[in-house]
Amino acid sequence: MPRAVVDAMTEYLLHHNANTHWRYPSSQETDEMIDGARRAMADFLGADPSEVAFGANMTTLTFHLARGLGRGWGPGDEVVVTELDHHANIAPWRALERDRGVSLRMVPMIAETGQLDWDVLEQALARKPRLLAIGAASNALGTVTDVARAAAVARDAGTLTFVDAVHYAPHRLVDVRAIGCDFLACSAYKFYGPHVGVLYGRSERLAVVDVPKLEPAPETAPERLETGTLNHEGIAGAAAAVEFLASLCGDGGRRERLRAVSSELHRRGQSLLERLAYGLGEIEGVRVYGPAASAPRTPTIAFTVGDQTADSVADALADEAVFVSTGDFYAAGVVKRYGLGSRGGLVRAGCSAYTTADEVERLVAGVGRLAGRRAGPLSSLP
Ligand SMILES: Cc1ncc(COP(=O)(O)O)c(C=O)c1O
Repeated sequence: MPRAVVDAMTEYLLHHNANTHWRYPSSQETDEMIDGARRAMADFLGADPSEVAFGANMTTLTFHLARGLGRGWGPGDEVVVTELDHHANIAPWRALERDRGVSLRMVPMIAETGQLDWDVLEQALARKPRLLAIGAASNALGTVTDVARAAAVARDAGTLTFVDAVHYAPHRLVDVRAIGCDFLACSAYKFYGPHVGVLYGRSERLAVVDVPKLEPAPETAPERLETGTLNHEGIAGAAAAVEFLASLCGDGGRRERLRAVSSELHRRGQSLLERLAYGLGEIEGVRVYGPAASAPRTPTIAFTVGDQTADSVADALADEAVFVSTGDFYAAGVVKRYGLGSRGGLVRAGCSAYTTADEVERLVAGVGRLAGRRAGPLSSLP
């Protein structure tokens, strides 16, 4: 985490810590800090500050929103989810099956490409479901899905769109207007901030969604979406994370700088991904899953090494100070589809703003040693 983010949290806790809406300075400073954080997140998402609500994390915010939306739905109503998604964008909607008698439809992914089956998605939307819950990027395979296209089809069907942008937001610029979604959620800890969730909702939707709330709490959006006392220091940190990103390059206002930064991070991430995909692809026995490096994707790559379990690969790499994650990453549908459950799922490596080419080479060399064959030199990358 950048020092500036930690400093913002410390500064808040040491010098401004208070509850909101009282008449003394630290409380007023807290109100100002939260207003400023909404403006920062609005710039990050291309939204209006009044459309930004904070919460514990994406999962909790999504359960909360689903419960509120579901109060108006019942038997005969459908919600569409996808096999590619993290469970945080499935379970909250699935809960409505039990609670409200709503039916869920699952759009499959195509195993070979790691992309959604658009024919099935369009067929599902033709049934005019209440809501499409879709991920902008897969945290397991790195697939970037054209959520603007999906939201356009959904809109024509009179269907709301909820976008999970948790894995997308650190890698690409979110633009809620360009996507045309009704709701979108992300998590600050994925873009160099602390553990705080962020929910965007189109203002006319946030004003009316029937979420559970305390009677004395504000009726107006976005506060009506926020339950109890928030994680103020986390919100201060989330705003500082946006500032940190905006400070990396570019000129002009914060949104313009964020645009420049995200295109630079994308360019950098894409070049690391290409080295990684090429290096891993050269190693006998290594299988890389998901879209080709040239397809729309994030610099996150999932693979298996021969018949070794994912954990044994991760343990061996950790001994070389290369940290990779393993399992299903809560994108359980993906691992199930590839039949990798008994092998402990996938090994996943991701490139971040601070990842270096040297680290990529260490990863590839480590996997090469593990697979029993040294990887070819990365300098031979075409
Ligand atoms: C794609 C995706 N969606 C949702 C989540 C859940 O986010 P949170 O931890 O903020 O609940 C994650 C977390 O890894 C994720 O990668």
